[in-house]
Parts: sequence; structure tokens; C-alpha cells
Amino acid sequence: MKVINICGARPNFMKIAPLMRAFAACEAIDPLLVHTGQHYDEKMSKLFFDQLEIPRPDVNLEVGSGSHAQQTAAIMQRFEPVVMEHRPDAVLVVGDVNSTIACALVASKLGVAVFHVEAGLRSFDRGMPEEINRVLTDAISDLLFVSEPSGLENLAREGVAENRMHFVGNVMIDTLQANRRRADASTVLQTLGVAPKGYVVVTLHRPSNVDDPAVLAAITGVLEAVQADLPVVFPVHPRTRKNIETAGLAPRYEAMDRLTLMDPVGYLDFLKLLADAAVVMTDSGGIQEETTILGVPCLTLRENTERPVTLTQGTNQLVGMDPERILTAYRGVRGGPPTTSHVPDKWDGHAAERIAAIIEAWGCSRG
Ligand code: UD1
Ligand code: UDP
Repeated sequence: MKVINICGARPNFMKIAPLMRAFAACEAIDPLLVHTGQHYDEKMSKLFFDQLEIPRPDVNLEVGSGSHAQQTAAIMQRFEPVVMEHRPDAVLVVGDVNSTIACALVASKLGVAVFHVEAGLRSFDRGMPEEINRVLTDAISDLLFVSEPSGLENLAREGVAENRMHFVGNVMIDTLQANRRRADASTVLQTLGVAPKGYVVVTLHRPSNVDDPAVLAAITGVLEAVQADLPVVFPVHPRTRKNIETAGLAPRYEAMDRLTLMDPVGYLDFLKLLADAAVVMTDSGGIQEETTILGVPCLTLRENTERPVTLTQGTNQLVGMDPERILTAYRGVRGGPPTTSHVPDKWDGHAAERIAAIIEAWGCSRG
């Protein structure tokens, strides 16, 4: 059974790594890997292939950046001939980025089965580009692999047949578990001169937080206050780096003595930074899940999350974008009791193996 696997943006690499490993170990599956090129900077792409030992992509579509329509259309145009040449039995997509919907749509229109890993997540916020990608990808997927119970409920409500959805756990946590020990050996704390539990990690890249100069300026004010309390480590996404500059905020960052604004870091260093942080402040999807497993308090600078299990069982808190609300939550976490969390069901490091077994059974059932 030939399966073309798609990756394109940073969070896809952590999800595709354990899947490629599980497929390589499964005789029934012949995996191919396609990189769309949505992310292309060395520190947004190649670094993860090296660290996570992801096989070299069989094809790189090299689409690069663009508006949503340009990027999605370019991926579709370049991916269609790949599907026609290789004639796979299925195309597997992960997550909710533009590469996800673009490749799912191409496959579905060519009559090729679509498998979606991380199906069913919903923020119920259609202003978020990823929500559109999630809803549309799920609507045309044949097998839907779900990471948390809310996903099953959402898909059932949307009329997805029960035999197409499978609660398998979280492939991103497979990668976390597989790399924890290696990450422990990272010397990034010494390099940055920060002590375990003595610093805050920040990441921001959602358009709702970083594209509007007024919102970005307000969040910058929050970071000024936080770094007065604890050193802040801020590996900055290229979208955010650009926006800090165009909004004229760079001098404010330069003036913050205890905030380190740095390029995005590799997975192992980042995992070490997360694990030893006092507090994490983020708008990332994946980091809400990783902090839940690491037991580190996570303040999510959003009004909603498509990953509610991180709120009910994990260490995540939604704190929105209002500076006072964010700082009140920050002080609460700093002064409060240690945050407790439970490991969500099936976030045990074996999700990719479950997915491989289900795909194998699907192949057998088709004969
Ligand atoms: C994308 C995903 C988002 C995901 C994020 C993970 C969509 C709609 N968004 O957002 O869901 O959370 O990736 O990081 O798919 N850029 C570079 N170098 C790169 C990549 C991007 O400089 O290697 C810059 C470009 O100016 C580009 C901008 O970042 O225009 C945004 O990149 P894009 O892939 O469009 O969206 P992200 O914000 O990265
Ligand atoms: N990450 C990383 N280096 C960084 C920032 C994030 O390795 O400098 C990892 C993080 O641990 C997680 C993934 O990137 O595994 C999350 O990606 P991102 O926040 O870009 O996307 P999202 O999850 O929001 O879609």
C-alpha cells in the first residue's frame, strides 16, 4: 500500500517523524514523503529533519511563502502531478496548516483516500485560518485519527461515520517521549545563562497576536513587565520577527535587558527550554500539549483553544490578549501552588504505531 505523507510547516515535522518510523517498520505500508516547502528557513525546517531523523523527502514542492490563496494554490498545482505520477493508495496529512488542506483536496479530487492525523480539533473560531483548514480537511478525509476526546465529539456532531474515526492519541507526544532523554543533555540553559525554573519561555506567531501593530505593542508591554520579574527567552518565529521590525518595536526589545530575542531553536534545545521553564507564554497549538505533558504552567495568549484537554487535564490557561489579564494570570502562576496535570488518555508515545496498525487493517479490508 503506497501512502504519500505530507509535511510543510514546523509543527508538521514533529508529527510526521514518528509516523515515518512506524510506517518503515510496517511491511504493508510503502511510505513516500513530500515536503511542500511551506517553511523553508534552515531553522524552521532542515534542523528538524536532522534532529528527528526524518527521512529526506522524496519530493520537495518548494512553494515558499505567499498569501493564503497563493500558497494553497501553488501547493495544489505542484502536488497534483506528484499524485498522478505515483498513484498512491492514500495521502496522509497532519495538523491544520495550508499544506494540510491543499494536499487533502488534491488527493480527494483524484479519488485517492485521505488520512488526517489530528482530526476533529475545533476552536470554533472561523477567524483563525487553521480552523477553516481543519473543518475542510476533516470533511474530505476517509480515515480520521483523533488525539483527544473532544475530537470524537466534534466529528460525531458534524456527521462523520463512527467507523471512519479512530481515537489514537497524540503523535506530537510520541516525538516528545522519544526525545526527552536527548533533550535533557542539551546545554542551552548554560548557553543562555538561565537557571532551571528561573526563566520564562515565550513564543508567538498567530496572526491575531502579531499582525496588528497595536496588539503586538500591547503584548510587548506585557513582556517588559515579565522580564522585570524573571529572565525571558523568546525564540522568535520569522513572521513575528518581521512584524516587530515593521511595527517599529525593535528598539523596545533591544532595551529589555533580561529578554533574549533569538532565532527559532531546534527541537531538542526547545524541549529542554520548555521542560525547565518556570512559566511558558505562547499562542502555539503544539506547545499547549507539550507543557501539559511536562507539567509546566502554560499561559496561552488566545481566547480559545482547539485542544481543550490541555485545560481540563493539563497545565494550560487561556489568558486572551488583554495585558492586565495576562499579567494577573502570570502573577497567579508565579505566586500560586505548583501546577498539577494528568497525562491525557493515550498520550503515551505510541500513537503512530496505532495509526500504522489501523492503516494496515484498512488496506486489508480493501483487498
Ligand atoms: C503556519 C501555519 C500555522 C502554524 C505555523 C507554525 C497556516 C495557515 N499557518 O503559520 O498554522 O501554527 O505555520 O509555525 O498554514 N517565513 C519565513 N521563513 C520560513 C517560513 C515563513 O521567513 O521558513 C515568514 C514569511 O514571511 C511568511 C511568514 O513567515 O510570509 C508566514 O509563514 P506562513 O507559512 O504563511 O505562516 P505561519 O505564520 O508560519
Ligand atoms: N518549537 C521548536 N523551536 C522553537 C519553537 C517551537 O522546536 O523555536 C517546536 C515546539 O516544541 C513544537 C512545535 O515547534 O513541537 C510547535 O510549532 P509551532 O508553534 O510553530 O506551530 P503550532 O503548534 O502552533 O501549529
